[in-house]
Amino acid sequence: MAQATFHFPRGFLWGTATAAYQVEGNNIHSSWWAWEQKPGHILNGDKSGLACDWWGGRWREDLDRAAEAGQNAHRFSVEWGRIQPEPDRWDEDALDRYRQILRGLVERGMTPMVTLHHFTEPSWVAEKGGWEDEAILAHFEKYVNKVVEALKDYVSLWVTLNEPNVYAANGYVTGDFPPGKHDLGTAFRVMVNLGRGHAAAYHAIHKLQAHARVGMAVMYRGFSPAKPWFPLDSLAASQLSRVFNDFFPRLAADGVARLPFSSQRIPEAKGTQDYFGVNYYTCERVAFSLDSSQAFARRNLPADAQLSHTNWIANVPEGMFAALKWALQFKVPIIITENGVDDPDDRLRPRYLAEHLHQVWRAVNFNWPVKGYFHWTLVDNFEWERGWTQRFGLWELDPETQVRRKRPSADLYAEICHENGISSEMVARYAPEIFEKMFPN
Ligand code: GAL
Repeated sequence: MAQATFHFPRGFLWGTATAAYQVEGNNIHSSWWAWEQKPGHILNGDKSGLACDWWGGRWREDLDRAAEAGQNAHRFSVEWGRIQPEPDRWDEDALDRYRQILRGLVERGMTPMVTLHHFTEPSWVAEKGGWEDEAILAHFEKYVNKVVEALKDYVSLWVTLNEPNVYAANGYVTGDFPPGKHDLGTAFRVMVNLGRGHAAAYHAIHKLQAHARVGMAVMYRGFSPAKPWFPLDSLAASQLSRVFNDFFPRLAADGVARLPFSSQRIPEAKGTQDYFGVNYYTCERVAFSLDSSQAFARRNLPADAQLSHTNWIANVPEGMFAALKWALQFKVPIIITENGVDDPDDRLRPRYLAEHLHQVWRAVNFNWPVKGYFHWTLVDNFEWERGWTQRFGLWELDPETQVRRKRPSADLYAEICHENGISSEMVARYAPEIFEKMFPN
């Protein structure tokens, strides 16, 4: 049997990623809370409810789990609606609670990475039109200033926006997220405003904290034509990639917002990524479609790949390598800010984890500047419009009883974090089915 260990560079960040709305519970002042109450919005009529009860204090036990499992970093987000429940009211207790969590991370020897906007905003912001209206920019900048001033003693690694591309696509094209619209023109306006919001946040943070490292987390999807010989499929795939994958990082690199039929200069956005956050889950095949409500593209998971429990994610590890190669063009350090799979029985996750990390290791071996990996996620949480039907946690959660149970992948990931590498021996124990592929004799 071949024996080897794929080592990662010293100081590599190993963590998990979470988001406030998905783990805290009772985020009653956020746009998603009202959205959840309307029938048809969330699968099964699920509710976020207590979520993982982090606001009730269970962040302590979960961060203990993460620290004991060798994780040296954690990515989480702060909830705008909690911090500013009304336009003229700041909740200092909420900020204090976030300071406690940050102290908790530091005490556990973990580097915090804080996201300022992860899909949600206060209801009062949503009622004023959210990111559709450029008036949000001033509100967002004020909020960012307030948070950074309050938390900057503990954190210097910031994510301004999580997946602004998914936010715009789901809220304004597919309609799966609030406000549930199907309107490409509005989606494009929202994207431009999000880009401007990112730029404003970038400069605001640097003004308060010169040594901050600021970026955004963009979801990368590998899009390839369903029929490679059919020009319209190729066109649909490349257009989608240009708008969905490229829009935000290119804007942050050179200050140009490129949309299908227009482009616009946003000079203050130029050079606003100190590192690049990549969220990678899966790849898709794209066929041209006449349906404008789906941006002229019909998307399917590759038929030959292994699929996750809810057929949501296809296991395409090479897509991780492609994502990193794509990210490289922006010439800043790269952090994998999310990667994971919905898998309640932990049937696919050990393999998914090992194979994706193998691809990350390949990238690192080309000396590509990949600085860390955050697995999505620590404990099962509220998965947006999919409610509780998807289980991404290294730990299983029963949201009713709040009981946690470790999945085997948690042990595999712990061994990887402790070793700062992944060995043939680990793969033989946790994912023997891929041993030959990963360690050919
Ligand atoms: C990402 C999102 C996370 C999480 C994950 C798994 O798009 O940033 O909040 O929900 O997908 O569904």
